[in-house]
Amino acid sequence: MKTTATIMMLAAALGASAASITSPSGKLQLTVDVDAVGTPVYSLDFNGKPLVEPSTLGLVAEETDFSRGFSIVGVDTVTVDRSWEPVWGEYSTIRDYFRELAVHLKADKPEREMTIRFRVFDDGLGFRYELPAQNGSNYLTLRDEVTKFDFAGNHKMWVIPGDYDTDEYVWSETTFTELPAALENYGRHSEAQRTGGTTVQTPMLLKTDDTTPVYVNIHEAALVGYPVMLLDTDTADYSFKAHPVPDRLGVAAYLHLPFDTPWRTLIVSDDARDILSSQLILNLNEPTKIEDTSWIKPMKFAGVWWEMFTGKIKTWAYSDDVLAKPGITDYSKLESNGHHPANTANVMRYIDFAADNGIDGVLVEGWNEGWEDWASYRKNRQFLFDKAYPDFDVDSLHRYAESRGVKLIMHHETSANAADYALQLDRAFRFMKDNGYDAVKTGYVGAIIPRSEHHGSQWMVDHVNSVAERAADYQIMVDSHEAPRPTGLIRTYPNWLAQESARGGEFESFGGNPPSHTAILPFTRLKGGPMDYTPGLFETRMSYYNEGNDSQAGTTLARQLALYLTMPSPMQMVCDLPENYARFPDAFEFIKVVPVEWSDSRYIEAEPARYITVARKDKNSDDWYLGAITGEEPRKAEVKLDFLTPGQKYEATVYEDAPDAHWKTNPQAYKIYSVPVTSKSKLKLNLAAGGGAAVRIAPVVK
Ligand code: NOJ
Ligand code: CA
Repeated sequence: MKTTATIMMLAAALGASAASITSPSGKLQLTVDVDAVGTPVYSLDFNGKPLVEPSTLGLVAEETDFSRGFSIVGVDTVTVDRSWEPVWGEYSTIRDYFRELAVHLKADKPEREMTIRFRVFDDGLGFRYELPAQNGSNYLTLRDEVTKFDFAGNHKMWVIPGDYDTDEYVWSETTFTELPAALENYGRHSEAQRTGGTTVQTPMLLKTDDTTPVYVNIHEAALVGYPVMLLDTDTADYSFKAHPVPDRLGVAAYLHLPFDTPWRTLIVSDDARDILSSQLILNLNEPTKIEDTSWIKPMKFAGVWWEMFTGKIKTWAYSDDVLAKPGITDYSKLESNGHHPANTANVMRYIDFAADNGIDGVLVEGWNEGWEDWASYRKNRQFLFDKAYPDFDVDSLHRYAESRGVKLIMHHETSANAADYALQLDRAFRFMKDNGYDAVKTGYVGAIIPRSEHHGSQWMVDHVNSVAERAADYQIMVDSHEAPRPTGLIRTYPNWLAQESARGGEFESFGGNPPSHTAILPFTRLKGGPMDYTPGLFETRMSYYNEGNDSQAGTTLARQLALYLTMPSPMQMVCDLPENYARFPDAFEFIKVVPVEWSDSRYIEAEPARYITVARKDKNSDDWYLGAITGEEPRKAEVKLDFLTPGQKYEATVYEDAPDAHWKTNPQAYKIYSVPVTSKSKLKLNLAAGGGAAVRIAPVVK
């Protein structure tokens, strides 16, 4: 604990003008004031105990300082209780219930005005800066924020290192004081800009060092026109300070007033399950901008994809030629390398696989010109998004997919040349619509060219947001990879079905993801929106394909089924090869039937990195589904089925780890059985180390 003297000094610095509100139930109490130098300060109590100690607020621009000299000139409060219906998601209705405090601030010499708007929910806090048009300059070059989150103890935390370009890291479980040592273990991503020292990324999770611990997720909502927020950690003071990702000139944002920043968010509860069920971040986003959403269709999809990760000699590129013969610009003159999976016959095989198994879509990667040049960056324009390779017959695949009732999903890897992608975008989307594509997976692997922006900088945030918005004009659904991590904008653009923006399933082929990984992501990354994690991996050992690759997925087969519940996404991949599903047809049954949108969700038990058990009700039937995962430790999940309709008889089909299963030594050992259940039943599920269980609970129709 910090010394009482420091806390008392900070408290004494607060003036008499302090404004205070509580959350609707009174659980959270917010106090806002200005300190001796006119810097706005807030603090947050949870159940009558200080959680966030007095922490500074404000923005610093080259032209104007919005972090000091202020007095409070007025406050407005209002209580809002409303509900809304998402197009898809974990719930059919979401309640948005909060008390709001708008603190109006003024300063002179020079004259400045700013409002800080706070919303206090029973499950947390959101606040943002609102800069109205000023008497002085309305064009700001923002350098920094003084926003702080100052905690009272040496709390536990789950974090990944601060990085301007990537979030594809394994999580560290650490504390404030142990953080520097924990971050030292991370290598530097070849193209990424890792900040030095103790900077971390959001969303991150804290668990307070108290007898009744409090869980706090720190993130942001509605990231629009502004860079990603990282956090600089003060390991002695137990505090974080906002660190907006700058451009290469050190500028965080170019702002034109009036401007509202994104919301800074704290999801707070003494029950870990509430962190998972919280809808606070979605509630702080604007309602949908898309009026007719009938064309937005959640889906499962297979892909010409994992083949390229298995270590077999499969490539995205059609030819091995072009780098050797740099003069070649006409792809029809290239010779096929003979192992290019995005060819017409192979794609037809995937279309058949999808059609035969009720899978809605097929993603095809490596269909278009440009992959030969991947690493060279010789051209300003590398990828062409309307130019298929000679062995990929756009027309006949369009016709074939349509005849089999399957949708093809287009891939736009931009090699991070976002500026050029923006120039091609309309042509690319038109090409998609002309050829029957309604969904695109975008990708930004590499350093952002040509302006050397960062993945987290304002320019790139604007880019990905505008791609989602423009896609909606064409009625195209988007799944973006290597984009800035999501902040709930799926509410505003429900066609933006998923993002990667964390270390995904692809890493199972490059060293593997530890079992705890998918037990942390729902508490952190997923609070911003669904992840295209690519579940469904049945063959978890890469040596199966390639002796030279000893990478093994940190999972049992049964856990992969559970991920469809614990990592909910309206765009959910069925990632493994059709031939691997053919080896385990009984387990594959679960993937065939599991839905991708829900009318209700119940988090039954949860502890970060340790375990998650969740039940969800199918949006389009009376079926319930249950997913349970554990971390490194084996465990028994006990589930009371009291969420079922009383009096109704159901049949539960259980897919769980066999008694001798273990992610490392025996990952493919599972058991499938059926039992009759009612709302009075209890299920006991066996979870192996790194394991999981999945259950379908369907009403018995007489
Ligand atoms: C990285 C993406 O995460 C992965 O899904 C994709 O296959 C490759 N880039 C190639 O674009
Ligand atoms: Ca990736």
